[in-house]
Amino acid sequence: MSTTSLPASDHSPRLRAALLAADFTADGLLDLLGASAYAALARSETVPALRATGGDTPLETLVRLFLLQGPVPHAAARAALPLDEALADGWVVRDGEEIRATVDVRPYGGPEGQDWFIVSDLGCAVGGASGASGHGEGVVLGVGGASTTLAGLTVRTPVGSALDLGAGSGIQALHAAQQATRVTATDLNPRALGFTRLTLALSDAPPAELREGSLFEPVADETYDLIVSNPPFVISPGARLTYRDGGMGGDDLCRTLVQQTGERLNKGGFAHFLANWQHVEGEEWQERLRSWVPRGCDAWIVQREVQDITQYAELWLRDSGDHRGDPEAYAARYGAWLDEFEAHGTKAVGFGWITLRRSDSDRPSIVAEEWPHPVEQPLGPTVRAHFERQDYLRTHDDAALLTGRFTLAPEVVQEQVGLPGAEDPEHVVLRQNRGMRRATKVDTVAAGFAGVSDGTLSAGRILDAIAQLTGEDAVLLRDRTPQAVRLLVEEGFLEPVPEP
Ligand SMILES: C[S@@+](CC[C@H](N)C(=O)[O-])C[C@H]1O[C@@H](n2cnc3c(N)ncnc32)[C@H](O)[C@@H]1O
Repeated sequence: MSTTSLPASDHSPRLRAALLAADFTADGLLDLLGASAYAALARSETVPALRATGGDTPLETLVRLFLLQGPVPHAAARAALPLDEALADGWVVRDGEEIRATVDVRPYGGPEGQDWFIVSDLGCAVGGASGASGHGEGVVLGVGGASTTLAGLTVRTPVGSALDLGAGSGIQALHAAQQATRVTATDLNPRALGFTRLTLALSDAPPAELREGSLFEPVADETYDLIVSNPPFVISPGARLTYRDGGMGGDDLCRTLVQQTGERLNKGGFAHFLANWQHVEGEEWQERLRSWVPRGCDAWIVQREVQDITQYAELWLRDSGDHRGDPEAYAARYGAWLDEFEAHGTKAVGFGWITLRRSDSDRPSIVAEEWPHPVEQPLGPTVRAHFERQDYLRTHDDAALLTGRFTLAPEVVQEQVGLPGAEDPEHVVLRQNRGMRRATKVDTVAAGFAGVSDGTLSAGRILDAIAQLTGEDAVLLRDRTPQAVRLLVEEGFLEPVPEP
C-alpha cells in the first residue's frame, strides 16, 4: 500500500475554484438532479443521476466524471476543469480521446453551509449498493451513514487539539478542523492518510498532522482535548478489509480503543466513538461496556441496535459482495463467521455510540442505555448537556435539589393517554421534540411540576404549592418527589438554572 498513486494537491485551490464555479456543491447537485435522483445517488444508485446529466454543462460533466465515474470528452473536461493542472496532479487521466477520474470527489455540505469535498477511492459508492465489493483490503471509502452519525454526535466547542483516529477519507478531521487549533489524523492504512490530505486541501481546510499506525501507537506521548473515531468495529473472523475489520478477536479493538482513551484525553475533553460489542450468554451488555470505561472518565453509552449473529454475518458478507460470488466460498465464509461467534460465546451484537468525558471525578457517571428510537441530529449539543446535567446531579443531594430552580426544556409537550371520552387520563407522557426525542410516563405531580418550572420558583416552593392545591401532605410530597425530579433532569426534560 502506498500513497504514490494518489493525486497531488499542488493545484487544489484552482481545482476547488473550478468545482465551485460549476456549482459542483451539495446544493448544486440537488438542483441539477432533483430530490429523487439525488437521494438515489446517496444510496449508491446511479441510473437516475445518469439520466439527469445528459447535457454538456460543466456541472453535468463533473457529475459524470467524479460521481458516476464514466469517461467524459476531452473538450467537456477542459470546459469544466483546469485540465492541465488536474492531469499534472493526477486527479484525472487521459483515456484515448476521453478523460477519466482517478478518485471519487463528492460534494459535502458543512454544518454552516461550507462547500466541502470528500475524496475517496473510485467505485465504492457507485454502481449499486455493493459497498466495497471487489476492492482490495486497503480500499478507502467515502462518507457513509456511520460517518455522519459520528460527526453529528461530536461536541463542537472550540478546542486546542483534536485527534481523528482511523481517519479514512478525512471527514471527521475536516469537521474537527473547524473547532480545533491543531488536528492530528491517524490511520493504519497509509492510503487513507493520503485521502485525508486531499479532502482537507480540496475543502480549503487547514492541513492535519498525519500519522500512520495502529490505534494510539502513533500518538503514544500525546494528549488531546477531543478524540473521535469511527473505528473498524466489525466483529469478524480475521482482517480482510482494513476499513471495517479490526483484526483483533471479538470486540477487542473497540474495548482497547475505549480503555486506552483515558490517558490520551485532557481534563474536560470529550471522546466520541462508534462501536460494536458482543452480547454474551450470562452477561449484561451494560456490565461489559461499563468495564471498558477508563478511570477518571464519565461515560454515556447508547445502544442503538442489536442484531442476531446470523443477520450480522449476512450484513457484512453482503457489504463485501460475498453473496454475489461462488456459493461454496460464501458458505465457507458464513461458517467462519459463526465459528468466530461460537469461540467467543457471542449470541448477538450491539451497535451504538460511546462518549467519554474526562472529569477525574471520584464519583464517575456511567450511563449505559438502550435507545433504538429516532433522534434529531446533530446531537452534539445534547451530548454536551447530558454531561453538564450529570455534573449537577452528582453534586446535588435531594435537599439541594429542592432548593434548586429548573426550566422545562424547549419543545417538551405533554400527551394524555386514556380511553376516548374518559374524564381522567390513564397516564401522562412528557415528550421531547428535539435531541434524543425521549418520552417518559409521569404522574400528575411530576407533570404539574414540569409545567410550572420556568426557573422562577425553587423546586420546594413549587411542591408546597402543589400540596396546597391537591391537599397532599407537603412534607411527604417533598420527601417523595426528588427522585422523579432527578430522573427528569437526567433525561433532559428539566434543565437546572445555573446557580449564582
Ligand atoms: C470505518 S473507517 C472510518 C473512516 C472515517 N473516519 C469515517 O468516519 O468515515 C475506519 C478507518 O480506520 C482505519 N483503521 C483500521 N484499523 C486501524 C487501526 N488498528 N488503527 C487505526 N486505524 C485503523 C481504516 O483504515 C479506516 O480508514
